[in-house]
This record gives sequence, structure tokens and C-alpha cells, in this order.
Amino acid sequence: MGGMRLSGTTALITGASSGIGAAIAVALAAAGSRPLLMGRDEDRLARVARSTGGVPIVADLASPEGVADAAGRAFENAEHIDVLVNNAGIGWAGPLEAMSEGDVARLTDTNLVAPIYLTRRALPRMVERGGHILFVTSIAGCTGVREEAVYAATKAGLHVFAEGLRYEVAGNGVGVSVVVPGVVATPFFERRGTPYGRRRPRPVPAERVARAAVDALQHDRAEVFVPRWMRLPARLHGGMPGAFRALAARGG
Ligand SMILES: NC(=O)c1ccc[n+]([C@@H]2O[C@H](COP(=O)([O-])OP(=O)(O)OC[C@H]3O[C@@H](n4cnc5c(N)ncnc54)[C@H](OP(=O)(O)O)[C@@H]3O)[C@@H](O)[C@H]2O)c1
Repeated sequence: MGGMRLSGTTALITGASSGIGAAIAVALAAAGSRPLLMGRDEDRLARVARSTGGVPIVADLASPEGVADAAGRAFENAEHIDVLVNNAGIGWAGPLEAMSEGDVARLTDTNLVAPIYLTRRALPRMVERGGHILFVTSIAGCTGVREEAVYAATKAGLHVFAEGLRYEVAGNGVGVSVVVPGVVATPFFERRGTPYGRRRPRPVPAERVARAAVDALQHDRAEVFVPRWMRLPARLHGGMPGAFRALAARGG
């Protein structure tokens, strides 16, 4: 895979009504791509559509029917999907016993199952002309985070799904990238009901994640960490898990 020229492409972006997804939509539109914008909030989605010239597709992706309906409406608007950005996601923080089974299902359905379903449906639209699928995961999925075990599991699952898929679709001219953010200044924390409580790492702007996403598409990068130093805890966890766990136990 040699990376992608974005001008003239059609990009389907989930979670485009807020935060990282909205910033990716703006960055892709600036690079000449036509965005198809998925989200639940009609007003916020309409605002992003106005600023990007994109097509809003109001959809709840947390069920197979929701994904099928959303994909159908996206495909009515575009014969080919050149880029799929699986970004929509929700958080949940707190002790596992306080998390209802409904919350567990909502998190896994939104963060892990929906992107798999949507990818499955979008792939046939890509194999003829090639394309690129980008997943927004999280550093939590590389290391695990206390009181975010389920969230981290959904992101780890998505990361490994992307790794497997990359081998599978390379022969069809479809690239796969994973963007791994650390902490990003978006409504994510407020919406999950638990504010971000640490001093470090400092949140980075969503636009920085969007720049990394565009760069990953243009240069077919398999894995990009934002900020870049975030790859260090991921590598330490992978290469020296004992040392990582000792540090994490001390530093939380
Ligand atoms: N913020 C961080 O620190 C951080 C760090 C690492 C990874 N991430 C990941 O980055 C991604 C984007 O998060 P963000 O920070 O930009 O948060 P955000 O501002 O809360 O945006 C989340 C987006 O996901 C959409 N979404 C959530 N549930 C949905 C559903 N059931 N159906 C359709 N769309 C749904 C939301 O749509 P509506 O607004 O229309 O409901 C919204 O557009 C998530 O996958 C998150 O896990 C975030």
C-alpha cells in the first residue's frame, strides 16, 4: 500500500458530530475529500456539515439495525467509499461492580461491534478501487487503565481487529491504520460522567489527532500515537510488562 491522495475521495466518518471526528471531517474536507458525516445529534452534525460541505447522516450505531440503516443511507449518497474512519465511541469510568450489564453492552456495542459491522458493510465498496480504513482506538487499549477496564478492552479489541484486517485486505488495495490518542480535549469525559482527573498527560487538541489521521491516510501508516511519545508506555507495556506494571502500580 502506498498511501492515498485524498483529493476527490469520499470519506465516511463516524462520530463526526463532536470532538475528534468533527476535527477529522474538517481536515479531510480541507484535503479535498467529500465527507459523509455520521452521528446522533442532528444539530451538531448539521453544523459540521455546513463547515465541511459534508452530508449529514443521523444514526445510532449501537445496534446491528442502526449500523445497517446508517450504512444503507451512506451508500445511497456515494457509489464508492474511499475512506472509512471508525471513530465514534463512548467512555465509562468507575469500579466494575458499579457498572451495569447494560452499560457494558452499550460500550462494547458502540466501541467494538459497530465498527466491525460497518467495516464489513463498507469493504465491498472499496475492493474494486482500493481504499483505506482508519480506526481511532486509545492508549487505554494498549496498556489497560484502572477503573476503565471495559473501555480499555473495547479499544484493545478494536486495535487487534485492525491488525488482523490489515493482512486480510492488503491484497485488495485496502489500507488499514490505527490512530491511538492519549488524552484529547473533547466533551468525551463530560459525556461519560467522570471528568479527566489527572494532571498528566495533558490533553491535546482534537485537531492534532485529525492531522495525524490525515497523515496516516496519506502515508499508509499502520499505527500512529498522538502525542507521539504515547508510544513509549505502549512499547514498555509490550516489551517489559513487569517494569510497566511496577511503574503503573506506583503512578496509578
Ligand atoms: N477524548 C479522549 O481523550 C480520547 C482518548 C482516546 C481515544 N478517544 C476515542 O476517540 C473517539 C472520539 O471521541 P471524542 O473524544 O471525540 O468524544 P466525543 O466528543 O464525545 O465524540 C464522540 C462521538 O461519537 C459519537 N457516538 C457516540 N455514541 C454513538 C452511537 N451510539 N451512535 C453513533 N454515534 C455515536 C458521538 O455522536 P453524538 O455526539 O451525535 O452523540 C460523537 O460524535 C472515541 O472512540 C474515543 O473512545 C478519545
